[in-house]
Amino acid sequence: MNNRYGTLASWVYNLDKPVGRSFGDVEYYQQRLGESEGPILEPAVGNGRILVPLLESGFSIEGFDASDEMLGYCQEECSKRNLSANVTRQTFEEFSYGKGFAAIIIPAGSFQLVTDTTSATAVLRRFYDHLVPGAKLIIDLDPIGSFLGPTGSVRRWTTEDGDLLTLTDHRVETDYVAQTTLAHLRYEHWRDGNLVKSELDLFKLRWWGVEEFLMALQRTGFVDVVVSGNYQHGRAPHKDDEIISFEARRPR
Ligand SMILES: C[S@@+](CC[C@H](N)C(=O)[O-])C[C@H]1O[C@@H](n2cnc3c(N)ncnc32)[C@H](O)[C@@H]1O
Repeated sequence: MNNRYGTLASWVYNLDKPVGRSFGDVEYYQQRLGESEGPILEPAVGNGRILVPLLESGFSIEGFDASDEMLGYCQEECSKRNLSANVTRQTFEEFSYGKGFAAIIIPAGSFQLVTDTTSATAVLRRFYDHLVPGAKLIIDLDPIGSFLGPTGSVRRWTTEDGDLLTLTDHRVETDYVAQTTLAHLRYEHWRDGNLVKSELDLFKLRWWGVEEFLMALQRTGFVDVVVSGNYQHGRAPHKDDEIISFEARRPR
């Protein structure tokens, strides 16, 4: 299974991108959701990096994620702060709620984990169906350049117990027709020079062209699509931007 976010992957994510770490996105979402009235949904909520600060700012936000390990970190961060974590184990492809949301947000390029075009189209439709009329969808996408850069990096983190976690990233396939990359992410946990555990995550992502994604949103029925670069709302993306945000509304 691809994009599993297992035990070591989730541990590394939580060390590398803990609650409290912002790439400009926490402030951006706080600002863009300012006038939302009603519940907000964050699919692929992960460890709660975005959800927790939004809950602390008073937003009524809930989420789902495919990984039990990531949800475990999210629940732990919420309980440390006496926040009630309304998070469930569901997937992009099959999530379901018996109510509509005032906004759906997908930060951190997580939508690009849906790599099959037909599935991606169906997921956009599922988002649409879970929004009340007039509600907004905000999705961040990583630009194409970020998929095709150098590969083979090794990164490391030290745990609270002084153990070492390493991640070796090898891109093994680039499909220019399907617009996907497949990487082997090898996670290793080391103690006193001995390997405690290793894990291989087959990590597949899809890249989107800016116009292509805008048209996909419009084809789903979304209107008033605004595309922004580097969290400057309304500023059209530049070629060197590190993140591209799409904001659209379900018609009233
Ligand atoms: C990059 S993390 C984003 C976490 C969080 N939203 C943030 O901004 O830090 C991507 C998340 O997507 C989840 N994920 C991967 N495939 C998924 C799927 N098919 N359905 C739901 N969640 C999925 C992973 O478990 C992981 O927690």
